[in-house]
Amino acid sequence: MNTIFTPVTLGDYHLKNRILMAPLTRGRAVNDGIPNTIMAEYYRQRASAGLIITEATAVAREGLGWVNAPGLFNDAQQAGWKNVADAVHQENGHVFMQLWHMGSTVHPDFLNNELPVSSSAVKQQGALTTPKGRDREFVTPRALTTPQIADVVQQFVSAARRAIDAGMDGVEIHAANGFLIDQFTRDGINKRQDEYGGSIDNRLRFMLEIIEKVCNEIGAGKVGIRLSPSNDVWGISDSDPKATFCRAVTKLNAFNLAYVHILEPKPGAEKAMHTMENSDYLTPILRENYRGNLIVNGGYTQQSANEALANNAAEAVAFGTPFISNPDLAERFYADIALAEPDSTTFYAPGSKGYTDYPRMTRSS
Ligand SMILES: Cc1cc2nc3c(=O)[nH]c(=O)nc-3n(C[C@H](O)[C@H](O)[C@H](O)COP(=O)(O)O)c2cc1C
Repeated sequence: MNTIFTPVTLGDYHLKNRILMAPLTRGRAVNDGIPNTIMAEYYRQRASAGLIITEATAVAREGLGWVNAPGLFNDAQQAGWKNVADAVHQENGHVFMQLWHMGSTVHPDFLNNELPVSSSAVKQQGALTTPKGRDREFVTPRALTTPQIADVVQQFVSAARRAIDAGMDGVEIHAANGFLIDQFTRDGINKRQDEYGGSIDNRLRFMLEIIEKVCNEIGAGKVGIRLSPSNDVWGISDSDPKATFCRAVTKLNAFNLAYVHILEPKPGAEKAMHTMENSDYLTPILRENYRGNLIVNGGYTQQSANEALANNAAEAVAFGTPFISNPDLAERFYADIALAEPDSTTFYAPGSKGYTDYPRMTRSS
């Protein structure tokens, strides 16, 4: 029977275990989105994960609306990411980069007061910190024109090429959590009348064009995608998430991707987590419809992860917050010792505190 310690092949890579590190934005790229030395050290410390998925990384300046989040749209950023990839590989780890465009959640403060883009001119609820202050409310974005959609698809392709050139093992397309791709997928936001709006297939067109072109550029065995079907972050909604996301994974069958990564349940629903008693929990039905490798994530413990694998619910399990405070999470699981709790006040604070200073386990811990 598979456990989290059983090796697994995802796409082009044979991974030493099924304990994956979920993407975690940490806001340490203080110099114009360029990964720095402490970021390389942070990822090096976590290389015993079967696969590290990096923090969300912007494919274009217009897609970057998070203070000190990294990018991958210029040579300096690419050089910084090469140091990260090298550090992980020196420890015999594997690393995919999560590629991100925030769409309408980019505040104009990041854009010289220009409007951000989305599928439609529909405002999302919520606010984020910007260089001008905290809790800066999202604005009504402008809808991308059809030629501009093609430009954004190309930005994902260029960033994927840069990721591979920087030595990354692959990329994960960030289609989750209410960001630009999700703003196309869900009908609560997407009100377009053209071939990118309306029917489910039309709303999935943007995602699938990105997947197809990125696969053509770097090879499908180096490409994953992240979906969050039950997440209603920032008021994003869909009239029928089950139909939308079943169709998404059915369409994704055509590509032979390294994996599809499902983030569920929605935040706050941890009590009724990985069970069908939670009626929002779509993972089992997505599993039925998707023929490739599935990664699950969201509130898993060692025990519930092993149960998921034993029940053949997925090929691997990603862990987010546990990796923040337990750099050697895989070893700790193996030694069966208590996990350290993360300090949420340092999740996004610049510097090494709460970042690279969480200790590895000691014999007595
Ligand atoms: C500090 C922090 C940063 C996060 N950044 C990202 C991100 O960049 N991309 C993403 O897809 N999810 C992000 N997430 C969500 C995590 O990947 C993960 O889905 C979530 O923490 C649930 O998994 P867990 O219960 O194992 O922590 C973030 C979560 C946290 C707590």
